Amino acid sequence: MADLSVVVDGLRLPNPFVIGSGPPGTNANVICKAFDEGWGAVIAKTISLDASKVINVAPRYARMRVGPKTDQTIVGWQNIELISDRPFDTWIEEFKQVKQKYPDRVLIASIMEEYKKDAWVEIVERCQDAGVDAFELNFSCPHGLPERKMGAAMGQDPEILREVCGWVNTVSKIPVWAKMTPNITHIEEPARAALGSAGGGCEGIAAINTILCVMGVDLKTLRPEPTVEGYTTPGGYSCKAVRPIALRMVMECARMMKQEFPGRSVSGIGGVETGEDAAQFILLGASTVQVCTGVMIHGYAMCKTLCDGLSAFMDSKGFKSIEEFRGHSLQYFTTHADLVQRQAAAKAAERNAAKGMVTKDAAWSGDKFVEQSSKLVSND
Ligand SMILES: Cc1cc2nc3c(=O)[nH]c(=O)nc-3n(C[C@H](O)[C@H](O)[C@H](O)COP(=O)(O)O)c2cc1C
Repeated sequence: MADLSVVVDGLRLPNPFVIGSGPPGTNANVICKAFDEGWGAVIAKTISLDASKVINVAPRYARMRVGPKTDQTIVGWQNIELISDRPFDTWIEEFKQVKQKYPDRVLIASIMEEYKKDAWVEIVERCQDAGVDAFELNFSCPHGLPERKMGAAMGQDPEILREVCGWVNTVSKIPVWAKMTPNITHIEEPARAALGSAGGGCEGIAAINTILCVMGVDLKTLRPEPTVEGYTTPGGYSCKAVRPIALRMVMECARMMKQEFPGRSVSGIGGVETGEDAAQFILLGASTVQVCTGVMIHGYAMCKTLCDGLSAFMDSKGFKSIEEFRGHSLQYFTTHADLVQRQAAAKAAERNAAKGMVTKDAAWSGDKFVEQSSKLVSND
């Protein structure tokens, strides 16, 4: 049977499935539930030093469903949720409790702060003192707090990102992943800034956070959704529908990193609900695969289905370990011009073969040698 365990940036995970930052990792209670259900690691809900500035609204989700009325599938999920509204000191206590109960499991703190060196240094030092195993830097929350230049507002500016990653990495003694925003044209640019030796210096990147969206407008009330007192604000889109975009962005980062930062890690996120979905992120270079909305739809027990699906895929291909196929499919991406050239070459070879022309030396036959020679003559 396939071995699903992974070692990434020195962290040992029993399987590559990681709870993505959000409601499924929002307090010690649910984090422990995730470990009990076998998740490879948990990234807690994003925290900051001062939770008093975080004020959530309700409702704050909207869903897109497809299919017949009686059997609808959720394909898209919008949220206008902010980072954790729980006090920082409570989180520190809970990190300690979780690590005490699960010393061998990987607990990752997701952190976000304003553009102030002291704040980033403090949050890093206090979380690592509490015993977390790694950091994910949230440079990607698309809604809320842009007025404080937090989240995506920071992640869209490679120079600021480089500087902040530098602050974090000078004090962090544990691995650091920078979580990328998809709300940018070239995701490789912030990824390069986060990883670069001239500043950044992160061990890895995580991609993607949610995509800025407007879920829709209610045609009865004429109000956009999710509606809070009749009004709304654009939010973050996740779930199945974002997977193709996430795969593209993971591919772009992984391809760049293979060239410029070999050995650095990618954590893939976006619309994963099955082991087969996860296999595709791994084929494009991810070492771990995060799930957030999927857990909100299917529950923590889905980890078993994810592991079974990934394991069945690996068995069907004879892959014994994740490392054996990680990044395998990156080699099949090329330019459109190259596709045209390849197609023209294939068609020419087909035409020649149809005329019985030898195009490869291995095709020469002793019995048809003279006939084959004659077919290759152009001026008869
Ligand atoms: C309700 C909700 C809250 C989220 N909160 C956070 C957060 O606090 N920090 C963060 O980095 N990402 C947050 N995310 C983004 C997810 O971690 C993930 O990047 C995104 O949803 C795509 O993955 P998915 O399709 O598996 O959900 C949140 C997503 C949802 C749906």
